[in-house]
Amino acid sequence: MDTKAKIIIEGKTYEYPIVTGTEGEKAIDISALRKDSGYITLDVGYANTGSCTSNITFLDGEKGILRYRGIPIEDLSDTASFVEICFLLIYGHLPTKIELEKYSEAFTKQSMIHEGMKSFFDGYPLTGHPMGILSAMIGSMAGYYPELIKPNPSKEEIDLISVELLSKVRTIAAFAYKKSIGEPYVYPRHDLKYVPNFLNMMFNSPTKPYEIKPVIVNALRTFLVLHADHEQNCSTSTVRLVGSGLANLFASVSAGVNALWGSLHGGANQAVIEMLQKIQTEGGDIKKYVDMAKDKNSKFRLMGFGHRVYKNYDPRAKILKSRADDLFRELNISDPLLDLAKKLEDIALKDSYFIERKLYPNVDFYSGIILRTIGIPLNMFPVMFAIGRMPGWIAHWKEMLEGAEVKIGRPRQIYTGNNVRKFIPIEQR
Ligand code: CMC
Repeated sequence: MDTKAKIIIEGKTYEYPIVTGTEGEKAIDISALRKDSGYITLDVGYANTGSCTSNITFLDGEKGILRYRGIPIEDLSDTASFVEICFLLIYGHLPTKIELEKYSEAFTKQSMIHEGMKSFFDGYPLTGHPMGILSAMIGSMAGYYPELIKPNPSKEEIDLISVELLSKVRTIAAFAYKKSIGEPYVYPRHDLKYVPNFLNMMFNSPTKPYEIKPVIVNALRTFLVLHADHEQNCSTSTVRLVGSGLANLFASVSAGVNALWGSLHGGANQAVIEMLQKIQTEGGDIKKYVDMAKDKNSKFRLMGFGHRVYKNYDPRAKILKSRADDLFRELNISDPLLDLAKKLEDIALKDSYFIERKLYPNVDFYSGIILRTIGIPLNMFPVMFAIGRMPGWIAHWKEMLEGAEVKIGRPRQIYTGNNVRKFIPIEQR
């Protein structure tokens, strides 16, 4: 097997090393190409560009495989706790019983946010989008915990800052929600585990005590586990890019939250429900929407469909679809939007447009239906994605920082603007 790739440019041959991953994935390391030949590679949207090597998550989009640290997502989604997944992603191995207990204790200890931060929530209008609030609050943690933003943090400091963030993010999210509905904040409780603690902070109120149901806890646990990492997606690459300039974890993750916000990325779970509701209120004409998605003159796309890397059924969507069924069965309820989503999926998957382009439901297609059933309001859906993705962002930031060499991220470009021209003073224009 060749260990070098040959690139011929203007008749001259250049040789570059082939890098092989543990699952046989191959890349050509072209980092010296420009120095050797004057050429760069152009790959808009980084569709075929590896920005790093990573030990964290393996994804094979053609086969629909997703593994965290080598363990298939299907095995993790059944019973693993979210805190266990955080440990696995961040430290690379499953925790022992004692490690998990210690880790959970640390989460409990760090769950409260600084009292001073509460005034930040008061500054936001009730209509403020919780994603904007979340990113601002995470960014502002740098101000409240200055001891955690040193440029070259030690292993112990990284451990502490990551637990601070993982634990406090749910308190921030729940406080943002309480603020938006004008209810008093519910503080974290030390006797509750990660997911029930979050649900209690979100839904308990002085006038209506919240009953924590195991079936709801399990549905949310599954959601968080399935969102925990997805290798070099838009927000994770953002976290790595920001962190590569040696920005602290709060700054890097706050940027990741903003990257996640868009409707092509983490905002898609909200957009799916909005789309389904629109189809429903307009009388349920699914075909009209499928036709619109195929029409190149319309800007409309089927939300929750298609993926940059999955050219097969997204394994996360498969699990969430069946979890949605379990949830409704166990709660003995139904949701017409789930029936509509299934019909839409059936029609799209039989349509040659979607078949030819290998467009399948992605993680966001069924996740919104689960969140809605739990009682999470629509504008909090991307926030839930962000809480889930937190361990992945932290694991990638940590991996990069602890790697052999931190190299600042700095892509190049091909300039297509004006050639050199003269500045003309305003009075002569
Ligand atoms: N509806 C209709 N057509 C689509 C869709 C869709 N949802 N997704 C892709 N296409 C078409 C697209 O128009 C293009 O057609 P053509 O080859 O004729 O120009 C072809 O499929 C390839 O699409 P692309 O835009 O080149 O693919 P991409 O890899 O750049 O985009 C995507 C990936 C996820 C942004 C896109 O599929 C999309 O916009 N989906 C809807 C939004 C969504 O559900 N996002 C959540 C992604 S999963 C959560 C996450 O990890 O962020």
